[in-house]
Amino acid sequence: MSILVTGAAGFIGARVCQVLLEQGAHVIGVDNLNNYYNTDLKKERISTLSSSRYFDLKEVDIESVDLSDLFKLEEQREITGILHFAAQAGVRHSLDAPIDFINTNVKGHIAILEFARKLANLKHLVYASSSSVYGRNAALPFRESDRVDRPGSVYAASKRAAELMSDCYQHLYGLPQTGLRFFTVYGPWGRPDMAYFKFARAIMRGETLTLYEGRELARDFTYIDDVADAVLKVLAAPPSSDQQRLLNVGNNSPESVSYLVTLLEKHLGRNASVSVMPRPVADVETTWASIDAIENLAGWRPRITLDEGIGRFSEWFSRSKYV
Ligand SMILES: NC(=O)c1ccc[n+]([C@@H]2O[C@H](COP(=O)([O-])OP(=O)(O)OC[C@H]3O[C@@H](n4cnc5c(N)ncnc54)[C@H](O)[C@@H]3O)[C@@H](O)[C@H]2O)c1
Repeated sequence: MSILVTGAAGFIGARVCQVLLEQGAHVIGVDNLNNYYNTDLKKERISTLSSSRYFDLKEVDIESVDLSDLFKLEEQREITGILHFAAQAGVRHSLDAPIDFINTNVKGHIAILEFARKLANLKHLVYASSSSVYGRNAALPFRESDRVDRPGSVYAASKRAAELMSDCYQHLYGLPQTGLRFFTVYGPWGRPDMAYFKFARAIMRGETLTLYEGRELARDFTYIDDVADAVLKVLAAPPSSDQQRLLNVGNNSPESVSYLVTLLEKHLGRNASVSVMPRPVADVETTWASIDAIENLAGWRPRITLDEGIGRFSEWFSRSKYV
């Protein structure tokens, strides 16, 4: 039995791979180690995983390679689960490089669906979607039944497009899938392009960090280990019908971005210098996940508060070479 994980060198993919290996699974990682952010971080994550003999990495680009060509038929028969995390992430970056988002998040997603539908023993494909699909919705908390046809960025639109492609493959080929809408995932080994990471860096370097205007600017920050736990609980519970299944994975407890800065100051032991700017149009004001659906389906609830999680992140970050 093997689990194929795309985006294995990424923040979420690497942590999920690590937990899978601890549980005794054979894991095949797929990643092109692109340079959207510091590749040292991706290589370090992979080198930790590679210390297990049950981990293999295929360093390929999912948009341009037919994954079927990389595996012998016997190896394909071993694959029982796919966790598809490879993506071009970053809401604001999608204003600068929109085509990259369509290439990886739509074309790359279809390539994974095409590979998956031909696997004889695949039980479940779980793929990463995003809270950003809720776009310009005002009603909180965000529920899976909400309308999601008003994206606020190309990133959000590409993630919604992937959900629709998946729905189509579920209907056409009976491919059992679940899409997980992640809400602002943070923690050790996190992504340097995300706000908490940039804030921590500015605080440590004594630089001024930028906060955006708005009393309600808040995020449903979700700790990486809670997210990995959600992914693996859902992987073990494939859908039995061809109904599209989408689940929020969030903390169900939005916190203001200014409170995030206060916690970073506390755990890094330094004060922040802050400047306030108007909020960019692609950023939504508040995110807040309803998690009733995943709780009912998989018995999952997040455990780590923002205070604990930022404590763990700060401990890792202040000792890392990424300060
Ligand atoms: N981190 C979050 O807060 C968050 C929130 C919502 C959704 N998501 C989604 O979760 C998934 C994982 O996010 P992450 O934070 O770990 O991001 P990440 O950028 O750290 O990981 C993505 C990985 O995919 C790889 N990749 C990108 N394009 C590829 C391609 N064409 N072929 C092969 N590999 C490729 C990258 O090299 C990277 O290692 C993504 O789909 C992202 O959109 C993340």
